[in-house]
Amino acid sequence: MSQYRRLNAEIVAKLIDICGKNNVIYGDEELLEPYSRDEIPGTDYRSMPEAVLRPSSAEEVSAIMRLANAERIAVTPRGAGSGLSGGAVPLHGGIVLATDRMNRILELDKENMMIVVEPGVVANDINEFLRPHNLFYAGYPMSVETCYIGGNVAENAGGGKAIKYGVTSRYVLGLEVVLPNGELMELGGKLLKDVTGYNLLQLFTGSEGTLGVFTKIILKVIPLPKYQFDLLALFPDSRSAIAAVPATMLESGVTPVSIEYMDQDSFESACKYLNESLPCEGAGAMLLLSVDGNDSEQMMDDCEQLGTFLEKNGASLVYVADTAANSERLWKIRRNVAEAFSLYFPRQSGEDVVVPPASIAVVAEKFAQLADKYGVAIPCYGHAGDGNLHSRISAPESWSDQRWRQTLPKILEELYAIVAEQGGRISGEHGIGCKRLHYMQSVVSETYLQVLRAIKKALDPNNIMNPGKIFSFEPPAN
Ligand code: LAC
Ligand code: ZN
Repeated sequence: MSQYRRLNAEIVAKLIDICGKNNVIYGDEELLEPYSRDEIPGTDYRSMPEAVLRPSSAEEVSAIMRLANAERIAVTPRGAGSGLSGGAVPLHGGIVLATDRMNRILELDKENMMIVVEPGVVANDINEFLRPHNLFYAGYPMSVETCYIGGNVAENAGGGKAIKYGVTSRYVLGLEVVLPNGELMELGGKLLKDVTGYNLLQLFTGSEGTLGVFTKIILKVIPLPKYQFDLLALFPDSRSAIAAVPATMLESGVTPVSIEYMDQDSFESACKYLNESLPCEGAGAMLLLSVDGNDSEQMMDDCEQLGTFLEKNGASLVYVADTAANSERLWKIRRNVAEAFSLYFPRQSGEDVVVPPASIAVVAEKFAQLADKYGVAIPCYGHAGDGNLHSRISAPESWSDQRWRQTLPKILEELYAIVAEQGGRISGEHGIGCKRLHYMQSVVSETYLQVLRAIKKALDPNNIMNPGKIFSFEPPAN
């Protein structure tokens, strides 16, 4: 029996009092269904909520949490639902707390170079807003056009600019959070330095909606670089492309903003999906590199240096996209690989492993051997310069569902063992969610898990906040 209370008419009436009738979805399966899933393809990671609430303020969120905590109702916070690890899936039914109405940009504090936003602001809209001010927020997840900043903070999203600019946590300076018991807490602030106690800001960043709901976010912004140039380097095969990545970082003399990798399946799928074409005849893999800055001559020199280096290191051709339109064409292809794969490889498991950057070639090679061993395809793409590889383990069409379901866990175990051997982790940016929860022990110790449980229990003793995510609340009995 579930430890959670189910909603009833009396509780729903109270929720309507808090959020208003129009902002509560209850009793309508068709309207509730979109909140049962994120963007993991297939139907394995789905679970219907009993109600969806769309609060518009911290006070409303706080009232919801107080009630849910008193009544022992599970609450799953949700941004745009663009996640890939089941983080926003309400595994225990209960309430989905949607943040889409908390979508205001509250303040641009130019003097401090900070922006204050609500969690439901679309990540890209932050930069649209900042551009006329010549400022820029450096987060760039591939779902930037749809994902919400609250989700980015909850997942500590990485993305395509992490080599030069780092991941989301580098820019989160302050958070207003509603805790599972409904109390409001402020973390950090408009501060570039703060060692006043434990670094709770970093704990909440990447906590996957298990510790609280963000209601306000303070982000650091930086001057907008005037130019971005992109290079597309074609390679005859995956091995030569991947091998060139750590060498480029170490020896090319240029630190790019990004080094993104796409194998043939990846770029062909994305091009087909977008009805796009690339001049990539005969290429088995490609790297997409960006440089940015304010001195276009210097940047052209950097591009030339990178291009020459890549050609000496296995690239058969290097193109430079020196107009914004051409750059966007390339990046659009890169951003759409995941969606294209979801369409063309329906029975699949999308992975997000991260290893020390210099180990990426070893790992890619071993993944290819693993694919051969099991007779599956494992196309790869991702943020190669960060050591963060997205691999899609994909079942052959001829396989029965049963064979796929029986084989996938074995493949995953071996794949994660390869990653562990290199000192890597099972998720670099998509999170653990419910998708990888059972594999945590392949890369972290029991002591590590005990510390996670102790933190969770201190903040959410009734385990109502996004239960069933990241790790099991109680240690598994064995
Ligand atoms: C990407 C997403 C899936 O890199 O993380 O395309
Ligand atoms: Zn990614």
